[in-house]
Amino acid sequence: MPVILGIESSCDDTAAAVLVDGHIYSNIIANQKVHKHYGGVVPELAARAHLKNIIPVVDQALSIANIDKKELNAVAYTLGPGLIGSLLVGNSFAKSLSMSLGIPLIEVNHMQAHLLVHFEKSIPDPTFPFLGLTVSGGHTQLVIVKSPFEMEIIGQTLDDAVGEAFDKAGKMMDLPYPAGPYIDKYAQKGEPNIPFSIPKVPGLDFSFSGFKTSVLYHLKKQNQLDKDYIKKNRNDLCSSIQHILVSILMEKLEKAVIQTGIQEIVVGGGVSANSGLRQALNEMKDWNVFIPPLSFTTDNAAMIAVAGYFKYQNNNFGVLDRQAQSRMSL
Ligand code: KG4
Ligand code: ZN
Repeated sequence: MPVILGIESSCDDTAAAVLVDGHIYSNIIANQKVHKHYGGVVPELAARAHLKNIIPVVDQALSIANIDKKELNAVAYTLGPGLIGSLLVGNSFAKSLSMSLGIPLIEVNHMQAHLLVHFEKSIPDPTFPFLGLTVSGGHTQLVIVKSPFEMEIIGQTLDDAVGEAFDKAGKMMDLPYPAGPYIDKYAQKGEPNIPFSIPKVPGLDFSFSGFKTSVLYHLKKQNQLDKDYIKKNRNDLCSSIQHILVSILMEKLEKAVIQTGIQEIVVGGGVSANSGLRQALNEMKDWNVFIPPLSFTTDNAAMIAVAGYFKYQNNNFGVLDRQAQSRMSL
C-alpha cells in the first residue's frame, strides 16, 4: 500500500497531497494572495511565499491524511515547467525530505500531471489512447496521450494561453486576478451578445491575442461614450468573453476528434473549472468526456502524487542533482 507525498510549487500555489494506494487522502493548497495587488504573478514574491507556506502545507496534508512522515514511501514533486524560483522551493524541499527519510524521489512534469490526475482511483479512468485538452494560465495544448508518459502535442497556442486571455480580459474590466473564476461567475447572469473577434488559425493551433485586442478596443470605444459602460454591462461582457473563448476551444477539439478519430476526451488545467466549458463538453453526446472534479482543476499536488504513482510502479525514480526546469516538453 504505497504512500506518496506530492508537492507542487510551479507558479503561485503552494500545494501538498497524500496518495495512499492510488487514492487521494488529502489535497492542500495555499493560494498566494499577494499577487492580487499586482494583477498578475510576481515571480520573486511567489518564491518567497512558497518558502513561507511549504512546511505548514506539507504538515497539514500529512495530518489530514492521518499519515506520519515515516510512513511515506516516496516524494513526488513538480520538476517543471514553471517559474524557476517557485520550482526551486518545491524541488529543494522534496530532495531534503527524501534524503532525510531515505525514500525515493519522483520527478513529475506539471503538464502531464494535469491530464494524469484522472487516474486517481476514486474517479473513472479514461482509456488509452485519449485526446487531452490542457487549458491553464500558462498553456493551451491538444495532446494525444498514448500511455501515461507518451504524449504528443498536436495543437497549441501561438501566443497567449486561454487562462491568460480570461485573466487579461478581466483585468481590462478591473476584475481581480486571476479573473477567470469571476468571468465565469458573472457570465452566468449575462447574455453572450457582444461579437468579439474570433481568430482564424489554421490546423489545430490556437491564438488569443486578436481576441484580447478586440476586447480592449471595444471597451475603449464604449467607455468614451459612457464611462459606466463596464459597470452597466459587466454580465453581458463576461458572458460574451466566456462564450467566445469556450467556442474557440471546442472548435479545435472537434477538429482534433475528426482528424484523429479519438472520441475519448480528457480535460485538465485551471480553465477546466469553467462552467461554460464543462457544459459545452457535456453536450457532446458522442464523446466519452472526462472532466476533473474542481479540486483537481487548478494547480494542485494531488495530480503530482497521482502522476508520481505511475512512475513509482515502474521504479522510475529521480536523482538529487536534477535541476528544476522552467521549460519542459511533454
Ligand atoms: O492550472 P492553473 O491553476 O495554473 C497554471 O498552471 O496556469 O490555471 C490557472 C488559470 C488562470 O488563468 C485562471 O483564471 C483560470 O485558470 N481559471 C478559470 C477558472 N478557474 C480558474 N478560467 C475560467 N473559468 C474558471 N472557472
Ligand atoms: Zn497548471
